[in-house]
Amino acid sequence: MFTSIRSMGLFGMQSYMVNVEIDVSGGLPHFDIVGLPNTSVSEAKERVRSAIKNSGLTFPVSRITVNLAPADTKKEGPVYDLPILLSVLAASRQIKPIPETSAFIGELSLSGEVRRINGALPMVIEAMHNGVADVFVPKENAYECSVVSGINVYPVETVSEIISFLDGTAEITPATYTPKEENFESLVDFADVKGQFEAKRALEIAAAGGHNILLIGPPGSGKSMLAKRIPTILPDMTFEESLETTKIYSVSGKLPADTPLITRRPFRSPHHTVSPVGLSGGGVIPKPGEISLAHNGVLFLDELPEFSRTTMEIMRQPIEDGVISISRAQATVTYPCSVMLVCAMNPCPCGYYGHPTRECSCPGGAAERYLNKVSGPLLDRVDIHIEVPPVDFGKLSDSEKGEKSSDIKERVNKARKIQQKRLAGSGITCNAHMTARQTREFCRMTDEAMQMLKDVFEMLSLSARAYDKILRVARTIADLDNSEIITDEHIAEAVQYRSLDRKFWGK
Ligand SMILES: Nc1ncnc2c1ncn2[C@@H]1O[C@H](COP(=O)(O)OP(=O)(O)OP(=O)(O)O)[C@@H](O)[C@H]1O
Ligand SMILES: [Mg+2]
Ligand SMILES: [Zn+2]
Repeated sequence: MFTSIRSMGLFGMQSYMVNVEIDVSGGLPHFDIVGLPNTSVSEAKERVRSAIKNSGLTFPVSRITVNLAPADTKKEGPVYDLPILLSVLAASRQIKPIPETSAFIGELSLSGEVRRINGALPMVIEAMHNGVADVFVPKENAYECSVVSGINVYPVETVSEIISFLDGTAEITPATYTPKEENFESLVDFADVKGQFEAKRALEIAAAGGHNILLIGPPGSGKSMLAKRIPTILPDMTFEESLETTKIYSVSGKLPADTPLITRRPFRSPHHTVSPVGLSGGGVIPKPGEISLAHNGVLFLDELPEFSRTTMEIMRQPIEDGVISISRAQATVTYPCSVMLVCAMNPCPCGYYGHPTRECSCPGGAAERYLNKVSGPLLDRVDIHIEVPPVDFGKLSDSEKGEKSSDIKERVNKARKIQQKRLAGSGITCNAHMTARQTREFCRMTDEAMQMLKDVFEMLSLSARAYDKILRVARTIADLDNSEIITDEHIAEAVQYRSLDRKFWGK
């Protein structure tokens, strides 16, 4: 007898429908799975056999062939355990035929428990798009999947439970998503940082426009301290951004059990010893790396020159494109990685080059060489460079608190909303991602602003790339100022954030 049950597969973040077809016929007992399964799928045979027995049912003594269609796509992981088990039971008439509007995913334990899987969210979204009305997922994945509307998500804990449900002898309540009261209370706050007004202002602009930023300064000046507080002022995520980021965490199995939807922009700070695979992603069927886990959030590279040249080279293209492709012998997978890059570094190996009171002990030219280590691969992608000078003790001991993160965030949110409105339908949501053409289109300037930009351009002999960066940053400054037109004041401020052009490669 032939039956077919619907399920879903995953390739990177891309999900697709899979039909689990089964044929049970007479002949010598045999159990075979075809349709390009990898070993973890092939092992389903043993898990299904045991789970059936241990749930008090009978494994048929027949010739059983399971085909996972489409047969030309490689199948990975144990997600097909549950549909295979149900297909065996349906084909051997131990349960009623299963309607085509239902779909199933889940790994089985030998005792018949349904276990958590990775990537349930993109699979349920795909099921919904394909007209599936009821999807049955492991209980531990149900909350994560409940954010998808237009489909009933049934949490399943054991094989016995789902069989009783399919027979109509027991109920399972579909999972529902109740958005949590946003509680973004953070242990750190910009109010903790004394002084550093210029750096804070630069971070506010960066957060508002999604600009990549480099903080440069001597040891102990508070660069790491400032960077760690960036999450407290990042703009709220749109639902689409949340869903995209959540999918990445779902696929990589890193979604916290109590967080069905990631509503806070991620902040990832990989150590400089991070491996290329850890950063870009990898594995037989590649999983997302740090750069994708930071999607729609911040990728913070502290002590930037300590990262190897190879590591920086790997990041170059993805940071520009917002997507990363990982090629392996078996497959090429693409993951999104639209990140705001935040880098911190000392100006030279000893750290004190340009320090007001301490002497730099490095040999001549060391500061330039140090910067050159990072110049090509990454600095080209950075819109804002800011110097973080040491804070004098008088300011540090000052008990007066600085501005609170929540106040800064409010301004950031306002400025981001203006950008989203202006850029609606263009596929981007912030100024930093504007193409050269969009930059020309959306950065209207007053005559004075135009003249100032021209003067600065000639004075500093800036590249065309730097020109666009200044314009994009000026656009964000104008948005924070609620001004549709860019004025000379906005340009003047934006130019300040190109300190490296002026200082080191101003030529
Ligand atoms: N502006 C400031 N306000 C309050 N505390 C500060 C400030 N700057 C520095 N500190 C104190 O100094 C410590 C060291 O700062 P931080 O680690 O951020 O320096 P850094 O610039 O990252 O140095 P390094 O180059 O060595 O990494 C902080 O933990 C904090 O206690
Ligand atoms: Mg530091
Ligand atoms: Zn030095």
